[in-house]
Amino acid sequence: MQIEDFALERYFARWEFAVKHLLCASDVEAWPLADLLALADPEARALWDDLRLGYTESLGHPLLRTEIAGLYETVAADEVLVFTGAQEAIFCVSHALLGPGDHAIVTWPGYQSLYEVARSTGADVTLLELREADGWALDVDAVRQAIRPDTRLVVVNAPHNPTGALPTHAEWRALTALCDAAGIHLLADEVYRYLEVDPADRLTAGADAFARGISLGVMSKSFAMAGLRIGWLATHDRDLLARCAALKDYTTICAPAPSEVLALIGLRARDRVIERSRAIVLGNLARLDDFFAAWEGRFDWVRPRGGSIGFPRLRADVGADDFAQGLVESEGVLLLPASVFGYPGNHVRVGFGRTDLPEALARVDAYAGRRLR
Ligand SMILES: Cc1ncc(COP(=O)(O)O)c(C=O)c1O
Repeated sequence: MQIEDFALERYFARWEFAVKHLLCASDVEAWPLADLLALADPEARALWDDLRLGYTESLGHPLLRTEIAGLYETVAADEVLVFTGAQEAIFCVSHALLGPGDHAIVTWPGYQSLYEVARSTGADVTLLELREADGWALDVDAVRQAIRPDTRLVVVNAPHNPTGALPTHAEWRALTALCDAAGIHLLADEVYRYLEVDPADRLTAGADAFARGISLGVMSKSFAMAGLRIGWLATHDRDLLARCAALKDYTTICAPAPSEVLALIGLRARDRVIERSRAIVLGNLARLDDFFAAWEGRFDWVRPRGGSIGFPRLRADVGADDFAQGLVESEGVLLLPASVFGYPGNHVRVGFGRTDLPEALARVDAYAGRRLR
């Protein structure tokens, strides 16, 4: 397998644990273990107290699969496969569905592994460009035009990393109907689901939309527990899940035992968990609105419709790489320049899931005062 470096992860490898403020993180402020355990019901608490650190069931703990299935309208527990993070799920589903002679369509700019892993299978990948001028909207007609006889997979991430874009219900219906009619799988990367600014905009999950729809979920983002490394695929296509399970035998075999129980606790308390995440994200989004209003003319801000990240454009003589570099060196605040996404625009990814955002933003304001005035 030939695969390019994951540019974002290489960038994080250099900076993530060396800076004061991660103003570009996509996850939500992580739960303290003690607070999470306090939410456990008696059954889950007993699972935690009696936990044996052995191998776990390869498909996932049965109670966890049941809990995950409960996130969907039509999904049964045996239509869920648990992975170590969403990342492993992307790897397995891409390799299960694609190979030389196959074609995939993936929106771009985006989370690199969604198209890089697809390429690494030997498949031909069409990057479907999202445009700022359209508010980063999904163009379903462009997807239709990109479909070929050998197209096996369409990949859409909604809410979207890095733009915060979210298709309308009508666009989503059109896309799922298109894939359904064409007999193509749709991988719906829904790791930011539940963080829609307006909950009425929450889309029908991919797995609920049609037989070849695949939902990708994870505990990392909306559930604010990235350290668990628990992700999943949900789909009615049981054959596909079986192929993914066979690939997983070569990656992790099974998920970590403590993480499975903690994920179960988190999902059973999901109303509380999501409420906390939404409060952090929506509060920070309002602060970002104020910041960009104050810096109008220096940044273009397409307000995210969901998720915990956005992709403002710097409108100045200074390049995004240079701006980000100076910011991290002088203020200890990390932004992700668009180059990390292989994207030529003068954008930066800003994350608003962390509770230190006010302080980080004050430092950006001070730095921008020096660089942009
Ligand atoms: C769109 C998207 N999909 C998948 C992932 C992978 O999630 P995890 O790192 O928890 O496996 C991420 C992480 O940033 C993401 O942004």
